[in-house]
Amino acid sequence: MKHTDVIQIISKPEEFFGKTVTVCGWIRSYRDSKNMAFIALNDGTSLPHLQIVIDKSCVTLPEGATRVGSSVKIEGEAVKSFNKNQAVEVNAKSVSLLGDCPLDYPIQKAKTSLDYLRTLPHLRVRTNTFNAVFRIRSKISAAIHRYFQQNGYMYVHTPIITGSDCEGAGKIFQVTTLGYAPEYKSAEEYYAADFFGRRAGLTVSGQLEGEVMATAFGKIYTFGPTFRAENSNTTRHAAEFWQIEPEVAFAELDDIIEIATEFIKYIIKAVIDECPAELDLLERFYESGLKAKLQKVVDDEFARVDYSEAIEILKKSGRQFVYPVEWGLDLQTEHERYLTDEVYNRPVFVVNYPKDIKSFYMKQNPDGKTVAATDLLVPGVGEIIGCSEREADYDKLLKAISDRGMKMSDYANYLDLRKYGSVPHSGFGLGLERILMYVTGMGNIRDTQIFPRAKDELR
Ligand code: 4AD
Ligand code: MG
Repeated sequence: MKHTDVIQIISKPEEFFGKTVTVCGWIRSYRDSKNMAFIALNDGTSLPHLQIVIDKSCVTLPEGATRVGSSVKIEGEAVKSFNKNQAVEVNAKSVSLLGDCPLDYPIQKAKTSLDYLRTLPHLRVRTNTFNAVFRIRSKISAAIHRYFQQNGYMYVHTPIITGSDCEGAGKIFQVTTLGYAPEYKSAEEYYAADFFGRRAGLTVSGQLEGEVMATAFGKIYTFGPTFRAENSNTTRHAAEFWQIEPEVAFAELDDIIEIATEFIKYIIKAVIDECPAELDLLERFYESGLKAKLQKVVDDEFARVDYSEAIEILKKSGRQFVYPVEWGLDLQTEHERYLTDEVYNRPVFVVNYPKDIKSFYMKQNPDGKTVAATDLLVPGVGEIIGCSEREADYDKLLKAISDRGMKMSDYANYLDLRKYGSVPHSGFGLGLERILMYVTGMGNIRDTQIFPRAKDELR
């Protein structure tokens, strides 16, 4: 169907003045006066609508072409608008109805709370809010690729089905073609009969395979879906989410922290530059001060605090936390939020966590108690990045695997990387939806995904 995207007309109106254009889209609002009618048309390519002006004495409006949600094709002349809020409008010559939208269309203006819209994932994407969120999701994804491609990283595709548990947190979705049946005498026998002849699951992280590629190509990144059977129902955990995982050979913890900082600033700047209208809308309705917050992230240094010092800060805070604060315990969301929202008010790297609360692959520090790992926490959201230098010493890694009771044969390839030309290397995982929450001001991760998957939620 030959037509012009609304974004082209709105972003370069001078090129269209006096010309006849054909546009297609959905009616976002319809206003009628005596001889004239006005349609706010949106085709999804732009956040602002295109105003269509209809002289009713010359143009006949088909039945339905006045209803919110109907799709139409309009031919008309693009002209300068006298309305301050828009540069261009289209004087319609003809309007044809493509798809009628009956009056029970559930996305009517009055009822657009996010809670309500979450019940309509297939239709909510037609609202301004989700137009903004998903355009930012697209632009930030492109910026992520650009950052790595421009800096010499290789994009690698790691498997979705794996036989290992990278994070060792027992949150793996099992992949199977067999239901368990009482004939199997043991779990081993059951798994042996299954498709792969062994237990398999959906990946929680592409890191282990990422390390394989980094020890061949030096600098790599993954960008793909990861899965976790999170049992808790929170506003920041999804069962399916996208992760970006760079892995860098010849890099120690401080090097990867530097890379993560530069990377986060780069992708946030890209959103500021490329999505001004989207950020305006989100600032207006969801987070006042959003744009200034993002600009500060680009301009200011990130904070850095040792885990042990963070524990002292939390202990001295005088706050009554629900979860205990004790050296050796993991930081809970409430603790992270105290650090980010009350103490630092900007992104902060918490470094050197106790080894017992972190994953097996992290480099053990000389103190014997902590690992060279860091989480990047941001105000309002908490952890957006999990990062570490990897244990490059064969014997130490072997011991970490066996101390955790993990099955050695599942990690034989991974151990080989330490046997054959081992190098210091580091990497991190950024949760795409977590950074989107931070950048868009959406308080619930479900509002950054088309069809969110979480416990008891699969539409
Ligand atoms: O901290 P995590 O578990 O780290 C890893 O998976 C490492 N293998 C990454 C690496 O070093 N290559 O997860 C990384 C990030 C978290 O910081 C968070 O942003 C996001 O992934 N994340 C989730 N996002 C949404 N829903 C969940 N259930 C998430 N779990 C982790
Ligand atoms: Mg983590």
